[in-house]
Amino acid sequence: MKIITLKNEALQSEKIAQDTAAFIRKNPGALLCLAAGDTPLEAYRQLIRLQAAGEVDLGSVYYVGLDEWEGIGRETSGSCMQVMFDGFYDPAGIPADRIVAWNGLNDDPEAEKKRIEDWIGLRGGIDFTLLGIGMNGHVGFNEPGTGLPEGCLRVKLDETTRRVSVKYFGRALPIEYGLSIGAGELKKAKKVFLIASGRHKAEIVMKTARMPASAEVPSSLMTDHPDITLYLDEAAAEQLG
Ligand code: PGA
Repeated sequence: MKIITLKNEALQSEKIAQDTAAFIRKNPGALLCLAAGDTPLEAYRQLIRLQAAGEVDLGSVYYVGLDEWEGIGRETSGSCMQVMFDGFYDPAGIPADRIVAWNGLNDDPEAEKKRIEDWIGLRGGIDFTLLGIGMNGHVGFNEPGTGLPEGCLRVKLDETTRRVSVKYFGRALPIEYGLSIGAGELKKAKKVFLIASGRHKAEIVMKTARMPASAEVPSSLMTDHPDITLYLDEAAAEQLG
């Protein structure tokens, strides 16, 4: 796994945006799976700036949502849908027919999983994925112990994920399950970016990059991908030695 460490989060985001834009320029029509969460948002803003400068056409590729909290939708601030549409898809002007996002309000999770799987199948698989590393090492909602499932899954959320969720919603919501693309499906992508920033991620980054791969640290299961890059700021890289 290639590791790129930048001095701070701003420089890290700039580098992630530049490298994502380079992939998009080379791969028109590709299917991208971009994580919500706090970590990538500045990189998405930078991508929109690159587009405004004429350096990339963000509408030249397709998008699939990585995950969603079951039971909430775009009307809930902090949902993956709200974060991605307000933070990226809408300001980037991506046409609606280029995006398929999870609908956490669908009361038939099996149908919802199938809808996402069908879109991935229609586009011939995911080409590029950008994944944040969660405090427990999850990628999407592939919680510790989930392994490398292909297709999509409905997961009972880990205690850590439920605790961390307060930062997105500003309060604790009674959410028990998440819907997600499986880590094995994500691993089939041609290119994988893993990202983490801040000292609070230093320990899980060390476990991801320096310990033997383990199902207890889902991000570590991605590290033997043939084209994976871990983007860090110095604080997140602190325990790498
Ligand atoms: P974060 O989320 O970018 O908000 O830290 C990462 C995750 O838990 O998936």
